[in-house]
Amino acid sequence: MEIKVVLLLCLLGIQAVECGSSSSSSLSSNYGFFNVKDYGAKGDGKTDDTKAFMDAWKEACGSRGPGRLLIPWGAYLVGPLEFRGPCKNVPTMHIQLIGILKAPRDMSKFGSLDTWVLFGWVDGLTLTGGGTFDGQGSSAWPLNKCTTNTKCKLLPTSVKFASLTNTVVRGISSLNSKFFHIAILDCKHFKASSIKITAPEDSPNTDGIHLEGNTDITISQSTIGTGDDCISVGPGNSLVSIDNVKCGPGHGISVGSLGKYVDEGDVDGLSVRDCSISNTMNGLRIKTWAGSPGESRARNMTFQNIIMNNVGNPIIIDQSYCPYSFCPDKAPSQVKLSDITFKNIRGTSKTEVAVKLECSKGHPCKEIILQDVHLEYNGGPAKASCVNVKATYSGTQIPPPCS
Ligand SMILES: *[C@@H]1O[C@H](CO)[C@@H](O)[C@H](O)[C@H]1NC(C)=O
Repeated sequence: MEIKVVLLLCLLGIQAVECGSSSSSSLSSNYGFFNVKDYGAKGDGKTDDTKAFMDAWKEACGSRGPGRLLIPWGAYLVGPLEFRGPCKNVPTMHIQLIGILKAPRDMSKFGSLDTWVLFGWVDGLTLTGGGTFDGQGSSAWPLNKCTTNTKCKLLPTSVKFASLTNTVVRGISSLNSKFFHIAILDCKHFKASSIKITAPEDSPNTDGIHLEGNTDITISQSTIGTGDDCISVGPGNSLVSIDNVKCGPGHGISVGSLGKYVDEGDVDGLSVRDCSISNTMNGLRIKTWAGSPGESRARNMTFQNIIMNNVGNPIIIDQSYCPYSFCPDKAPSQVKLSDITFKNIRGTSKTEVAVKLECSKGHPCKEIILQDVHLEYNGGPAKASCVNVKATYSGTQIPPPCS
């Protein structure tokens, strides 16, 4: 039978036709997508639809041939959700998220889990559809004590991608996460584009996209406005490329914090280009903890063609990072920074010191290059400050290099 005819019969609900799923399932429809509505999801924004989602996932992941999960138009109160693989007989898994997922406001639903929606251990996952993850964070934000207390309980991250290979995430929004919006952990070959992330400027720890332990990650064409880092590149990442991202409000694009734990992986190979950063606390920041317990490195990083608009600390390397009011260890950071280029960075600073390169006394920064930097403060030139670093300068230099 021709494919088109099969699809037509599927759409008409002709039961005798196999619609791209296990033979027992006459539930599948919509071109072989497993539709959460066929598994009992109400999509009224009030009923807990978690079970329907997990049942639909189980069948999609357990099917033969391309796996497909459809979340049609509607608002779904769900979670926590765990979309776990491996999906053995499924070469690729496509999740079409058209509707809005709403996180529970009731924190007891999360138990000890630190994630609202987890995608993990799948090869070839594609997530598209224009839909939204709404973390409904506003009632949880006052419970966050992590800005002052090191031993705080973490609130759940909205969407976590863990141990995935060959992933595409395109055209998805995240709104008002309780904690981080998106975390990408231990993934290989991951492309995210057209992502929109929104939370108020004063919402605590609502980092946009946090990366840790990944190889080959691209984030492009995205808009991120939130209460913490727009993107944070944590330990253990290599080959990370970020381009055409609009960041602000928030804390800017960060590498770090690095050096908090022993045996952290290095950061090796980061490119940030063609981005704009507006009305943020920082611009491009590399931060490592004071008194870090183990040695690690961060190297081969390029920041290029970045427009700053009213940004605090547009370029900042801070190797004595301590976000708490009291840090017991004032020893120099053990993270070695090298081969870092800032090229064509322009715009306005909201702090007088626009270029701050404050490196570790134990391991001064090496091979730092600034080329064509033009940052103004209050209509005049800004200032630069340097500690334990010898940078190489070329082209325009406003502020003038540290003497
Ligand atoms: C530096 O990082 C880039 C990616 O940003 C990568 O393509 C390149 O191979 C790396 N260079 C070295 C010497 O590792």
